Amino acid sequence: MLERLKESDRKWTEETYEKIRTKMRAECARIGSRIPYIAENGVYREDKAKSDIIWWTNGFWPGMLWQMYHADGEEQYRTAAEGAEEKLDRAFDIYTGLHHDVGFMWLHSAVADFRLTGNERSKARGLHAAHLLAGRYNPRGKFIRSWNRDRSGWVIVDSMMNIPLLYWARDVLGDPRFEYVAMDHADTVMKYTVREDGSCNHIIVLDPENGELLETPGGQGYGPGSSWSRGQAWAIYGFALSYVHTGKKEYLDTAKKVASYFIAQTDRTEHVALVDFRAPKEPVYWDSTAGVCAACGMLEIAKNVPELEREFYLESALKILRATEAKFCNWDPEYDSIVQMGTGAYHSEGDRHVPIIYGDYFFIEAILRLLDKDFLIW
Ligand code: GLY
Repeated sequence: MLERLKESDRKWTEETYEKIRTKMRAECARIGSRIPYIAENGVYREDKAKSDIIWWTNGFWPGMLWQMYHADGEEQYRTAAEGAEEKLDRAFDIYTGLHHDVGFMWLHSAVADFRLTGNERSKARGLHAAHLLAGRYNPRGKFIRSWNRDRSGWVIVDSMMNIPLLYWARDVLGDPRFEYVAMDHADTVMKYTVREDGSCNHIIVLDPENGELLETPGGQGYGPGSSWSRGQAWAIYGFALSYVHTGKKEYLDTAKKVASYFIAQTDRTEHVALVDFRAPKEPVYWDSTAGVCAACGMLEIAKNVPELEREFYLESALKILRATEAKFCNWDPEYDSIVQMGTGAYHSEGDRHVPIIYGDYFFIEAILRLLDKDFLIW
């Protein structure tokens, strides 16, 4: 992407990367292989490796470290990422409570390690996670179930970011079954999650006997029929990735449709995302993480569309990234976390307007993408 950037955008991107380097060096020295989630007043107090090893975000810190190791080659990133990956083995041991988010957890840790270093132990971990994900497939309903307990027909749009683990297993094992499962799932999500206007449901409840649509609860958004912005971002990036891994054009068209909707919404709010685009006007809740994830998806779309369309997605991603940097980034190297003002869910006060680890991951990935220094972790 670098050669396509205007001079001012190029300068901004390079300066931002230097800020990321300073910040990540300091954070890595402080945090090492602990697994951070939400910083409180600039400190990552909680170590998810100790408090909740099966938590879905536990891959993002090693993902940031592997991206930085790939871009910069500093050994401290690799050592810390390897340490975090080993800690995640305990999640396999516990097993109970593991979920559809095993892609987020192991694509960013073991699979990234294998991709960059060829570590065979990491490959085994990634394949183990892929089998767990494929094991959640419902062959009658043609979907991968989300979550656990009694929710056998529940599917959430976030799952689109996990199925790249299956495409990776297909490639490594040369076994098309993983692709069949992933594409059946993507087709079902595409059919029932994405609405005519390009907005998305967060949750679809399907009949586990036959896959018929039963309900669309509001999930992490405002309510049924609303449009939770991070869910829209998962759809943009997730469908773009399914296109990259399969070549099925409907996935790219779907990613573009949701991206157009997302861009139209964020154009109204100076290029930062509300938590839900269809929530009441007041109170105003923001989610910085939705914007940076969507921007990564737009940059992936930009790589896969004809020249004439490319500019639109690149420009739109840049507007979001630049607005996020100007409004929400903290560059003090002594302060843990970069992107502030993330929000877990519309109705949850505990994680409203806080820095959440995946906001930092996607911001870093987006900047590295612009500089052609990223590697495809998904
Ligand atoms: N995958 C859960 C979330 O986006 O909060």
